Amino acid sequence: MIGIFDSGIGGLSVFKEVYRMLPEEHYIYYADSAHCPYGEKSREYVIGRSKEITEFLVREGADIIVVACNTATAAAISVLREGYSDPAKLETAGHLLEISEGRRDHVKFIGMEPAVKPAAGMTRTGVIGVLATAGTLSGTKYRSSRETFTKGIKVVEHVGNGFVELVEKGITEGPEAEMTVEKSIRPLLDAGADVIVLGCTHYPFLIGTIRKIAGNDVKIIDPAPAVARHLADVMKEDGLLRTSPGSDYASGLKPDIRLFSSGNPRILEESFNKLIRR
Ligand code: DGL
Repeated sequence: MIGIFDSGIGGLSVFKEVYRMLPEEHYIYYADSAHCPYGEKSREYVIGRSKEITEFLVREGADIIVVACNTATAAAISVLREGYSDPAKLETAGHLLEISEGRRDHVKFIGMEPAVKPAAGMTRTGVIGVLATAGTLSGTKYRSSRETFTKGIKVVEHVGNGFVELVEKGITEGPEAEMTVEKSIRPLLDAGADVIVLGCTHYPFLIGTIRKIAGNDVKIIDPAPAVARHLADVMKEDGLLRTSPGSDYASGLKPDIRLFSSGNPRILEESFNKLIRR
């Protein structure tokens, strides 16, 4: 079973791609909307939430977990991997103690990270823009990828101020959305960015508005399809798939999809139905 979590409904942008690729798997999605946003919270806080949610997902039967949140990936994925993949470390680290013994050592984690590598290969102006939360932009993993993959390229970063709050309220277009998006992407466009990386899973919900302001010449990268492909590869390799990836192999198995929210479950359900169960 695939577990997916995010600080809220943003991770549905990843779920959508994963579900498209693997339509017959079982899913459990957790939106931590009562504690959203994560972006400005401390690393310790985000680690705490991520551990608690992971415990829940594993207890419910997840054997692979997509951390469909760049901020939680930056803060917590190494702690989660360490806790679940190496029981010896688990004992000394003293965390994630509630899972029954046999389950601990085979939970896999797939994370999100701003896609600076493909962006660097696509830019013509030599300037790329990265939109993400403060937590993601200060993460060591992102900073080292930026260092490695963007040599000779100017990287302009900006927090999508207010984006997450808009998306959680279901506002993705119209004057309020346009005003909010304009403020954060204008600095990237003014700096000459011709590629914008969406480094937060809430931001793809605003892609229409971002496009409207940035224009058609600016490329926008959402890493969700690449993450879905990577997940399918890992599951195939580990023998975790119920069926083979891709609809060509669809054998008519019914997926089981369960949605949980620490906030308002109706908002999660409505967004899910709009985005995934059209
Ligand atoms: N959707 C999340 C991310 O990808 C978190 C946004 C937030 O809660 O601030 O970073």
